[in-house]
Amino acid sequence: MNIFFILRSLSSPLILSYIIIFYLLAKNTSCGVDPKFLACPPTTCANNNQSISYPFYIQGKQEPFCGNPGFGISCGPNGFPILNLSNTQYIIHQIFYENQTLRVSNTAFSVSRPNTTNSKGCLPLPLTQNLTLPSTREFDIAPNQTDIRLFYGCGSLPWLEEHKVGCFNETSSVLALYKEDKNISFVSKNCQGEVVDTIVEDGIIGGNEEALTKGFLLTWKAGNCSVCHNTGGRCGFDFVMYTFRCFCTDRVHSAKCGPDDDPG
Ligand SMILES: *[C@@H]1O[C@H](CO)[C@@H](O)[C@H](O)[C@H]1NC(C)=O
Ligand SMILES: *[C@@H]1O[C@H](CO)[C@@H](O)[C@H](O)[C@H]1NC(C)=O
Ligand SMILES: *[C@@H]1O[C@H](CO)[C@@H](O)[C@H](O)[C@H]1NC(C)=O
Ligand SMILES: *[C@@H]1O[C@H](CO)[C@@H](O)[C@H](O)[C@H]1NC(C)=O
Ligand SMILES: *[C@@H]1O[C@H](CO)[C@@H](O)[C@H](O)[C@H]1NC(C)=O
Ligand SMILES: *[C@@H]1O[C@H](CO)[C@@H](O)[C@H](O)[C@H]1NC(C)=O
Ligand SMILES: *[C@@H]1O[C@H](CO)[C@@H](O)[C@H](O)[C@H]1NC(C)=O
Ligand SMILES: *[C@@H]1O[C@H](CO)[C@@H](O)[C@H](O)[C@H]1NC(C)=O
Ligand SMILES: *[C@@H]1O[C@H](CO)[C@@H](O)[C@H](O)[C@H]1NC(C)=O
Repeated sequence: MNIFFILRSLSSPLILSYIIIFYLLAKNTSCGVDPKFLACPPTTCANNNQSISYPFYIQGKQEPFCGNPGFGISCGPNGFPILNLSNTQYIIHQIFYENQTLRVSNTAFSVSRPNTTNSKGCLPLPLTQNLTLPSTREFDIAPNQTDIRLFYGCGSLPWLEEHKVGCFNETSSVLALYKEDKNISFVSKNCQGEVVDTIVEDGIIGGNEEALTKGFLLTWKAGNCSVCHNTGGRCGFDFVMYTFRCFCTDRVHSAKCGPDDDPG
């Protein structure tokens, strides 16, 4: 190949544009891009469209540095993301990244029930342990969530119909009352079975079992990802410095992408 040929080729707009496109492709893919940025794209559980990203990460599928410690989740058999808190499993229904809130329900209330459309009908609820959630280092109960008490094995009284959330067997039912309900001690005398405490969103009694399936809201405590995300980064964690990091295409930054940020 002689030099004149090369120079002639470079002057050809077509060849030149190939060279430019090749250069841009090479820059945008693999080699130049930070490996931590590449390791942490948002993901989902199979058969579920809830996007999973910082502070959450799917254990075994993503690197722990893509999330925050304490926010590892797993994918349940039905595709739902599952959060394990204080040794109890919660189904994640929806994650609101913008205000650091998520909706969860205890898996005990969500095991594929045959038909939940008939809320006043007779549907067995499984007996389980108390389902109250202590606040953890990572999660708090959101405002406007209510403690309720479930009573199993209750006789039927007409004025208690509105509290009925399911059946224990053909002749006895499961009732739900607010924990501060003044009638609670009276109701408990009418019930022979277990007593289980749990949490629901405000304003649901009166009332149906869908409230139990719908679950309640938690807020989380972790680095605020919005500035990093809005500058094109992916949030993550540095286990050596034990702090939040912003993974950008060029390198790891401390808070956001761009030239005006400290190196990470
Ligand atoms: C996920 O799918 C459900 C049902 O198909 C739909 O209602 C919901 O809007 C979807 N969510 C997202 C974030 O796409
Ligand atoms: C939940 O997490 C704890 C440790 O935090 C672990 O011992 C337990 O096995 C987990 N449970 C499930 C069902 O994954
Ligand atoms: C996160 O930071 C953004 C921008 O500073 C702010 O608007 C937003 O309210 C913060 N989110 C939370 C949950 O604090
Ligand atoms: C966060 O936003 C969701 C959706 O807009 C809302 O339902 C929820 O109540 C909010 N969380 C808090 C703590 O306000
Ligand atoms: C629920 O029950 C109603 C009436 O009993 C029936 O029409 C409907 O098909 C059932 N739904 C499911 C999902 O089985
Ligand atoms: C739930 O807690 C209540 C009191 O807080 C207790 O009386 C009840 O036995 C507990 N139920 C279970 C199933 O642990
Ligand atoms: C809680 O409920 C009160 C009264 O209904 C309402 O004013 C407030 O905005 C609610 N807070 C949240 C975080 O939803
Ligand atoms: C239903 O449960 C109640 C409370 O445990 C019990 O007294 C009753 O015998 C049960 N009825 C049937 C038909 O199993
Ligand atoms: C307690 O029960 C009585 C019926 O005996 C009912 O009129 C009243 O509204 C109940 N109180 C509450 C707080 O539900």
